Amino acid sequence: MVLNIAMDGPVGAGKSSIADAVANALGILHLDTGAMYRAIGLTALRRGVDLADEQAVTELARQIRVSVAHGGDGQRTLVDGEDVTALIRTAEVSMAASTVGKYQGVRREMVALQQRLAATTPMLVDGRDICLRVLPDAPVKIYLTASAEERARRRWLEMQQKGDTTPYETVLADLKARDAQDMNREIDPLRPTEDAVIVDSTELSFGEVVEKIIGIVKEKYHE
Ligand code: DC
Repeated sequence: MVLNIAMDGPVGAGKSSIADAVANALGILHLDTGAMYRAIGLTALRRGVDLADEQAVTELARQIRVSVAHGGDGQRTLVDGEDVTALIRTAEVSMAASTVGKYQGVRREMVALQQRLAATTPMLVDGRDICLRVLPDAPVKIYLTASAEERARRRWLEMQQKGDTTPYETVLADLKARDAQDMNREIDPLRPTEDAVIVDSTELSFGEVVEKIIGIVKEKYHE
């Protein structure tokens, strides 16, 4: 069986960087599924598709080809062959990704694509519905979280370092709004599955979280 690790969690829990480090340590790829929803959100914004129009957004998701490539610098995300990796990290695209992720047709396309990728290649897959829908049989399932204030604080610090002066209160409000949309949507809302190990990183350093997750993986594989 292919070694797959499923990881879910809310906005800013550090999933992407933690998943990168864990996957590297285990010698497997890290599939960032959020980037795929971001690619659809970005394309909808660029083409002036009304995000509230489920049918139009679903049609768009069916028309375009989202793909990923993994190289030395991690995952690159493409739309119809165009590399959009550098364009999908804005606040506007974050919220657009969360909105397009509410739609059944969009989720169906993305889940099928992610399952195809994970079926042949060992991967750590991170997102919102991975434990529940994308990899329900994954041998290791992690729900990575932290308090909203701590997640906002980390994101705010990161933004400051990049010269972004958005106030902490705005970062916290945006994070809570996106959490609410991801956790309260009708289809596969974000929540820990019963078989997931919950890792709360509020009081832990980056290195401690990575070590903890590697420990969980090793324990499962010794069972
Ligand atoms: O992980 P992220 O912040 O890059 O994800 C962006 C948005 O995409 C997130 O707010 C909700 C959506 N998403 C999803 O619905 N399902 C996933 N598996 C991953 C992301």
